[in-house]
Amino acid sequence: MTGSDFVVVANRLPVDLETLPDGSTRWKRSPGGLVTALEPILRGTQGAWVGWPGVPDVEPEPLIEDGVELHSVPLSAQEVSDYYEGFSNATLWPLYHDVIVKPEYDRKWWSAYVEVNRRFAEATAKVAADRATVWIQDYQLQLVPKMLRMLRPDLTIGFFLHIPFPPVELFMQLPWRTEIVEGLLGADLIGFHLPGGAQNFLYLARRLAGQSTSRGSIGVRSKLGVVQVGFRTVRVGAFPISIDSGQLDEASKSKSIRDRAKQIRKDLGSPKHIMLGVDRLDYTKGIDVRLNALRELLDEKRVDPEETALVQLATPSRERVDSYVKMRGDIEQQVGRINGEYARVGHPVVHYLHRPVPRDELIAFFVAADVMLVTPLRDGMNLVAKEYVACHSDLDGALVLSEFTGAAAELRQAYLCNPHDLDSVKDAMMSAIDQDRETRRRLMRALRRQVLTHDVDRWAKSFLSALGNGEVGGSALM
Ligand code: G6P
Repeated sequence: MTGSDFVVVANRLPVDLETLPDGSTRWKRSPGGLVTALEPILRGTQGAWVGWPGVPDVEPEPLIEDGVELHSVPLSAQEVSDYYEGFSNATLWPLYHDVIVKPEYDRKWWSAYVEVNRRFAEATAKVAADRATVWIQDYQLQLVPKMLRMLRPDLTIGFFLHIPFPPVELFMQLPWRTEIVEGLLGADLIGFHLPGGAQNFLYLARRLAGQSTSRGSIGVRSKLGVVQVGFRTVRVGAFPISIDSGQLDEASKSKSIRDRAKQIRKDLGSPKHIMLGVDRLDYTKGIDVRLNALRELLDEKRVDPEETALVQLATPSRERVDSYVKMRGDIEQQVGRINGEYARVGHPVVHYLHRPVPRDELIAFFVAADVMLVTPLRDGMNLVAKEYVACHSDLDGALVLSEFTGAAAELRQAYLCNPHDLDSVKDAMMSAIDQDRETRRRLMRALRRQVLTHDVDRWAKSFLSALGNGEVGGSALM
């Protein structure tokens, strides 16, 4: 059989639809952490990527660029609504993020999830060479490992979850909990960011997989991070993802970016303290938390509106899902309220952009910011925290970081806070603002050591080598 020796399967293809000057459109590769990390491996192995192009009812021809094949799995508008917006983002997303909003359980959405996962499995089975390695990504595709194994038992299958894996008490709400656990157990290696997620999964596997089957052949040796499924051994481990820190470090030192950062500070009126938030507009990110904290600090006169600016860059996301629509309204009201009370004409306190910001511009904002606010109520990792650190070779920056992010397990020298405790967020913000220069530099130096040595390349290699060698990976964190 011909085909690719290494196949990445993800809900989205790494492509953007570009409009040319004559009005016609074409697909263009889009950059991103995962693509960057996997690019060399994909190129060296005649690799392929299977995914949805991100727009309903279109099916671009397979694209081949630099020897990497991109294969699309088209979705109808109804499937986008039921599988993507519905089951993935109104059921699984809130359930896996501590039910911050109430998950909706809808049988029609579940059927669409099964059907779309089946199509991803079939598309992958066609593309993968004999005995190829397949790496499936994230919560949208949790049934694919088992479906693919049934079609192609010769493959080596890895799965990585990019979001938290919830505790058993929450996961047990899901009407299709057994199917999801069994779907994942089709993989040879299942990766999570943190040991806690891996433990949650091992516990559930023991509780659910054995119970549901008449085979009675599923047993768990959880201490070793191993689940025995009949004659197959499924390994479970923690592999904290990262960023292309070297590339960001380099880019942030360039003259054009530093000039742009200076200009941004000037445009903001050269305030003493620039705080920055960068997020997809998502209720998990705690954008409301940091706005509330800032408002109280202003009310209490602990920060001076003349000396302080908060820039909040919010990328539009999942705009047809109800909870996202509501949250956008709430946040924009909060921004309006703070500026209504504390801004002068031409001099707002909160600068809010609801649109994607080009990569170089984003790096310039990271460089310009004195304090980075990362306050999610729950986040699998949070790469923005690492990106900010990678952009501060000048050591002149402070990171306020929620304890409820995966990144907090690694970035211990950040100003850690509990986003459910507003006083804790306010205190962290004040410490970050007031810290003496020497301490701030010492903390940033330690953060940078961690981020620059643990990059996304190391993450991908450690997962793939564990997958290839049949070892339980990420043992340092298990
Ligand atoms: C999170 C998920 C990814 C997802 C991304 C953007 O990081 O883990 O799987 O691609 O959000 O969300 P979207 O719904 O736009 O793909």
